[in-house]
Amino acid sequence: MTKFNDIKGVVFDLDGVITDTARFHAQAWHALATELGVKWDDELASGLKGLSRMDSLELILKHGGIEAKYNDEEKQRYATEKNTNYKHLIQQLTPDDIYPGMKEFLNELKDGGYKMSLASASKNAPTILEHLELTDYFKKIVDPASLHRGKPDPEIFIKAAELIDLKPEECLGLEDAVAGIAGINAAHETSVGIGDSDVLTEADMVFSNTKNVTLENIKTNMEK
Ligand code: G6P
Ligand code: MG
Repeated sequence: MTKFNDIKGVVFDLDGVITDTARFHAQAWHALATELGVKWDDELASGLKGLSRMDSLELILKHGGIEAKYNDEEKQRYATEKNTNYKHLIQQLTPDDIYPGMKEFLNELKDGGYKMSLASASKNAPTILEHLELTDYFKKIVDPASLHRGKPDPEIFIKAAELIDLKPEECLGLEDAVAGIAGINAAHETSVGIGDSDVLTEADMVFSNTKNVTLENIKTNMEK
């Protein structure tokens, strides 16, 4: 078990951790699922979190039992349609949409000399950071196009640690998705879940309210 004093950096997911873009992803996928005649439910919504754009579409098709219905070109078209809708939704984001306490946490990390990197599967992450005026905090961002495997594979979290010259064991990973927590754990980082502890059962600790994400509270959890 990693000790708090060994931690030198924090790897962040973005959607659903720093801001509530998870709801926009869900809204845009829900619209597409309805168009394709696939029933939307909480299990599908939760399972989609953290998955790459194409993996998300594949899961929706599978959920509707129509995974063999479309060819690659058609799938590409549907994924683009979702993304166009999603990009429209994120235009409304402003710094006021940063989750409560997260800007304070980023400042606490910066002041404490912790390194930070972004491990988001989203190709829209740089645009979102611009809208939230957080670009300066994340000089190191894993390029999702460079990945061979999406979450729950640990690849993105290992790369995020490499970008800040740290061993995975020296990093905390923040995630709102079951797939993301699995990836952090498989990367041998300490997993910090944002959301429901009944859902993020594999996380090393879970915060239901981002206001409580502080180094002091993380330290307390790690010493339990
Ligand atoms: C994040 C979100 C997922 C999304 C993925 C790809 O991991 O949690 O819901 O599917 O990024 O995002 P993109 O913006 O590239 O479609
Ligand atoms: Mg997320």
